[in-house]
Amino acid sequence: MMKFATITLNPAIDKTIITTETLKLNTIHQCSTTIEQPGGKGINVAKILKLWNINANATGLIGNSQDNIFQKLFKTSNITNNFINIPLPTRINTTITDGKGQELKINDKGWENIHASPANIINSICSKIDNQSVVAICGSLPPALPKNILTQLINQLHTKHCIIALDSSKDALLAGCKANPTIIKPNQYELEDIIGFAINNQTEIINTIKHLRKKHEIIIATFGNDKAYFADAKHIFIAHPPKVKVCDTTGAGDALLGTFLAHYFPNQTLNQHTIAMSVATASASVECLSTATPNKTRIQALSKLVEIKKLT
Ligand SMILES: Nc1ncnc2c1ncn2[C@@H]1O[C@H](COP(=O)(O)OP(=O)(O)OP(=O)(O)O)[C@@H](O)[C@H]1O
Ligand SMILES: [Mg+2]
Repeated sequence: MMKFATITLNPAIDKTIITTETLKLNTIHQCSTTIEQPGGKGINVAKILKLWNINANATGLIGNSQDNIFQKLFKTSNITNNFINIPLPTRINTTITDGKGQELKINDKGWENIHASPANIINSICSKIDNQSVVAICGSLPPALPKNILTQLINQLHTKHCIIALDSSKDALLAGCKANPTIIKPNQYELEDIIGFAINNQTEIINTIKHLRKKHEIIIATFGNDKAYFADAKHIFIAHPPKVKVCDTTGAGDALLGTFLAHYFPNQTLNQHTIAMSVATASASVECLSTATPNKTRIQALSKLVEIKKLT
């Protein structure tokens, strides 16, 4: 049995505020509901792995957060909690939505100061991860951590023969890519972070993917509701997500990555079923508020509606 772990260095409490009427700037809104859910991209991936009966080992850094909200989730979701505690509150990411497709997201940066050295943090995290695990490293870094920490973290995990999936952004993504993670899942902006210029058309996307696959076994480039590319050493597929009623896009990319990992391993062959299930999970997740886990029946139904074409 393969082992799966996820690493979240900058977790968050996802606070969703639902307004009673259509969201509009410079207007006072009434709030109909407020939901607080434990968030953090690696935790989202662990929740999706659980949907496919995979018990993921979730590690990273976690604050002494309000109400033990994370502990409750780990218990109810059967996620193994191997987080390292930081004696500070966890940041809050706020989504304001009218539930009709209009939303505003405001993300807190995270810890400014962590009283532990980067080397100690890397060692502690690596000590929690079994050899040969599939490890998803997800999300941003708190300002307290040096930008290059993901290069070192991935290199150290490679000494444990782990397979790395990286889903990060900006400098953290660039640093992580230096250590050649097996799988990367950039969205459009992250893909542009990696190559350093704006992408305007499909030819540029394909050329970029061809360039990146010299370093990565799998490249998944997602473009929101429009399309997603899945590439391995041989093929590039394009997938068009089905039209769904958008409720909340938080964690759509994490949902896609979780299902991808659950289906790609252990065989490590990129096929259309894996692509359809991954995109369908993401689409089903945008139908749900916050990062609630979508149900399998809905995912299976949507997977039949994902249009997939082999480009090369
Ligand atoms: N508005 C939408 N309608 C339908 N599906 C969507 C929509 N937005 C995202 N998705 C689905 O989610 C997948 C990932 O979306 P996106 O490219 O926005 O990822 P992301 O920016 O990494 O998301 P995250 O906020 O989780 O990091 C898409 O490939 C698509 O399948
Ligand atoms: Mg993402």
